[in-house]
Amino acid sequence: MIDMRNLKKVYKTGSIEFEALKGVFLKIEKGEFVSLMGPSGSGKSTLMNIIGCLDTPTGGSYYLEGRDVSGLTFDQLSEVRNQKVGFVFQSFNLLPYATAYENVELPMLYNGKKAPERRQRVDELLTMVGLYDWRKHRPTELSGGQQQRVAIARALAMDPPILLADEPTGNLDSKSGEEILDLFTSLWKAGRTILMVTHDTKIAAYSQRTVHILDGKMEADI
Ligand SMILES: Nc1ncnc2c1ncn2[C@@H]1O[C@H](COP(=O)(O)OP(=O)(O)O)[C@@H](O)[C@H]1O
Ligand SMILES: [Mg+2]
Repeated sequence: MIDMRNLKKVYKTGSIEFEALKGVFLKIEKGEFVSLMGPSGSGKSTLMNIIGCLDTPTGGSYYLEGRDVSGLTFDQLSEVRNQKVGFVFQSFNLLPYATAYENVELPMLYNGKKAPERRQRVDELLTMVGLYDWRKHRPTELSGGQQQRVAIARALAMDPPILLADEPTGNLDSKSGEEILDLFTSLWKAGRTILMVTHDTKIAAYSQRTVHILDGKMEADI
């Protein structure tokens, strides 16, 4: 599913260069649930952005489902991203003035899905995350855990094989966090590939495998 070989990322700010990824080798098979751990500044978000086709590497190769995506143009990359990847963020990133329903519908609107298909899919997803009765509520009327469940439903709108989550429980109390992790576990059991950044070994314990990054290089793979 994901195969990175000697992947590098250099950020340039004026004349200053910073090598955030220094030759990463990482392979994730279809259907794995993997945690990515590492100290602040070690390159986790940089790696997630490249995996999710939000950014491109400056060296090495990245194969996504067998296709080399390291040299794609911006437009090609956004096409791949729309089809293959769903994102979940620590801060939920929902549209504040849109209802739960509208937030989940948005990716399908962008991708030109027809109204009946959108409606069916949104209802199905909101039911799956246990928020069908909350569909007309806006994010401010929902708890943090509920907002994150809306964000997960939105991430799955286009039915991507990969779910990327950058500290998805970082803003949640432990009970809501557990609900999110239980939801991830059921998505994983249904065949979704999940990669989750976390600082917490208790959270990483929900996944089957933990990879560690330090100073832009993979450390250990447990
Ligand atoms: N756009 C950028 N321009 C320059 N340096 C960056 C940029 N993004 C991240 N960095 C640097 O790259 C390193 C890795 O950052 P990041 O991937 O965000 O780490 P993490 O998510 O593990 O905290 C940090 O030293 C950070 O300062
Ligand atoms: Mg980060």
